[in-house]
Amino acid sequence: MIRRTARKIASPFRARQRAKAKARGIRPEVALPFDMFEQALSEAEGKTARKLENIYHKGQAKAWDGKQTLQTLLDRHGGIDLTPAQQEGLRGLFAVILWGELAAWKVSADLALQLEPLEAKMAATSQAHDEARHFYVMNDYLSQIGEVPKELGPRTTRVLVGTLKASTLTKKLVGMQMMIEPMALALFQLVREARIEPVLCDLLELYERDEARHVALGVLHLPRMIHGMTPAEAADLWAWEFQEFWNQVGMLKELQPHFEALGIDVRDVVRIGRAKQVRANQLLMEEMGSSLPVLEAFVRFFDAKTEWHWPEAPRADLWERARGVIRAANRGMGQVQAPLSNVAA
Ligand SMILES: [Fe+2]
Ligand SMILES: [Fe+2]
Repeated sequence: MIRRTARKIASPFRARQRAKAKARGIRPEVALPFDMFEQALSEAEGKTARKLENIYHKGQAKAWDGKQTLQTLLDRHGGIDLTPAQQEGLRGLFAVILWGELAAWKVSADLALQLEPLEAKMAATSQAHDEARHFYVMNDYLSQIGEVPKELGPRTTRVLVGTLKASTLTKKLVGMQMMIEPMALALFQLVREARIEPVLCDLLELYERDEARHVALGVLHLPRMIHGMTPAEAADLWAWEFQEFWNQVGMLKELQPHFEALGIDVRDVVRIGRAKQVRANQLLMEEMGSSLPVLEAFVRFFDAKTEWHWPEAPRADLWERARGVIRAANRGMGQVQAPLSNVAA
């Protein structure tokens, strides 16, 4: 009797929650949503749906055979030639990429399972297929240069687990597509431009092409998930995002010795990673048709924090360093030209 009363009280609330989840395109509790095609789409929503669907088709058309590609590259470049210091640097840095690819695989599989609109589900499924390939190819590549790394530093682990174990799908999408993947793209670009090792450089070109499509899934589907959030939900999302940005700075500090071993300036990683994250968020705001003032505040805060950790003039005295921090805090997002060139898929 008591149980039945409780169910009666809870059911309008649950019905509202279900309606809200449906509007956002997440309905994990419905095994077979026979009504999934019933929702009428506006012209703009139809356009977004076609772009999302195209991510899947483009992913299929551009899928590459990981085993065959790695072998072809090894044959073409006569194997992998690295000094012991470069080997250590690459193993240290690409441990993050290896386990990050597994994290991306898990998150995208979760998105593919839970997102309801057909087109977003297709895009997430295509991403899961790409991430599986990225994971096994990176594992194969790293096994060519020594033992495959089986652990990560605590701050780096915190970044990946923070997104993997996030309490909502929106956080997972923000964490993976808008924060981690743009940073991975920055890393790929720098390692490729430094021409550290030709097999890896050629592989990373293929990874970069795939990753830009993944960012596009976030840009195109997040507006629907963010729309209609209550102030409490929005505050929870931004607080979580702040924590993730904070952890990402810690991760870069932890990885700094590996960047140095490979001759990469960590400030370049910060600069290019920031530009790609800002660009991804600008594209998101364009899709939403409104700004996210909280992001502007985050960018200013973390520009100041990174300027403090990695000052433009490393030998500056305290006063000059403080002035650099204030200059960085005043910079803001501005307009960043499209470093994610094929983000619209
Ligand atoms: Fe990937
Ligand atoms: Fe990805």
